[in-house]
Amino acid sequence: MATLETGVAGGVSFALTDEQRELRALAREFAEKEIRPKAAEYDEHQTHAADVVAKAHEVGLINLHIPERLGGLDLSAFDGILVNEELNWGCSGIGTTLCANGLAAGPILVAGTEEQQAEWLGPLVSEPILGCFGLTEPGAGSDVSGISTTAVRTGDEYVINGSKMFITNAGPASWIVCFASTDRSKGHKGLSAFVVPMDTPGVTIEKHLDKMGQRATDTSAVAFQDAVVPAANRLGEEGDGFKIAMQTLDFTRPGTAIGAVGVAQAAYELALDYAKERVQFGMPIAMNQGVSFLVADMATEIEAARLLCWQAAWMIDQGYGRKATKYSSFAKRFSADTAMKVTTDAVQVFGGYGYMKEYPVEKLMRDAKLFQIYEGTSQIQRLVIAKEVFLPKE
Ligand code: CAA
Repeated sequence: MATLETGVAGGVSFALTDEQRELRALAREFAEKEIRPKAAEYDEHQTHAADVVAKAHEVGLINLHIPERLGGLDLSAFDGILVNEELNWGCSGIGTTLCANGLAAGPILVAGTEEQQAEWLGPLVSEPILGCFGLTEPGAGSDVSGISTTAVRTGDEYVINGSKMFITNAGPASWIVCFASTDRSKGHKGLSAFVVPMDTPGVTIEKHLDKMGQRATDTSAVAFQDAVVPAANRLGEEGDGFKIAMQTLDFTRPGTAIGAVGVAQAAYELALDYAKERVQFGMPIAMNQGVSFLVADMATEIEAARLLCWQAAWMIDQGYGRKATKYSSFAKRFSADTAMKVTTDAVQVFGGYGYMKEYPVEKLMRDAKLFQIYEGTSQIQRLVIAKEVFLPKE
């Protein structure tokens, strides 16, 4: 009988190739040896995992989608999510540090010329450099068209002014893709994207933010004060910024969603073991349906979430384009909400111990929350889905 990952049934295949199994095993081993041992300490001290970034760079578990012509790994979206699940199973604070370089590279892959890709993505192949994605602002999170950072053209340059908020990896990053308005009167059609080196005069980290979860990832506020960049750093045409951001997010959301699956999987494994070991009323607590049904639901929902991620990534690889948008949002919404539910239930299975920092499940619950917020909240995913359901794009 055909089983998931090993065979084909009814013309639908869930089979992973030998290379994909090896890739996933490499990521799992890396997560076990390089990420997990540091997870608790880096979480406590909000340590940026520069050492793990360097090791991931060495073994090829970061910058997964850089084209081969630049020396990159050029992995498919599907292969990327196999890696991301394992890294985030290790620790989603460290996992996000690694995976967010894909988000930073996204706009350059979507809209960069060959020269721009060589200039900004080429160095990522040779060195463990981080970039960051500068979309969110203090007053414009979900409402991307409300961005108030401006980029004013003067000759062959742009002068950028404004603030960016909650920017993943901004602290250690070498450059930021900054979305700014080049024409306020045009709303979303007036947004443009620029690659800005972080050492540009006028670009400063205003604050490293103190987070509830995923604390090993640097999340910072960035200020732009008369920061000057060459016009050659603009990605696409003036006014393309909104669509570049949306196309990037369409690609990255399944990769982020699977990170939530990795967190949920970690919590589920812990809850399963604990339910078998913990004895109350003379028997393992797993013998109670109240507990075993919680674990059964975890297993079911994690599998459903994983399959939604696989499907969305597969559609991206098949070139579905805009038709994959809805599926990326299905994956992001369902996986994030599943991770929140599974990790909360895992704490419940552990009872009082689960609430203690001494046990790993409270961290997973804190970490899971962010998946419902970043790269578009669960409510924004529903908004995207509703728009696509009611007004499908051809
Ligand atoms: N691909 C291409 N074009 C798209 C698109 C897509 N996926 N989605 C929308 N568009 C187009 C629309 O067709 C429309 O085109 P026209 O102007 O030609 O008609 C235009 O873009 C505007 O679209 P909407 O009317 O749908 O725009 P909106 O203002 O209602 O906003 C939104 C849509 C979905 C709410 C969007 O603003 C959004 O995704 N918000 C969430 C932002 C987000 O995810 N932020 C996360 C930041 S990154 C982060 O958190 C990551 C991290 O640090 C780790």
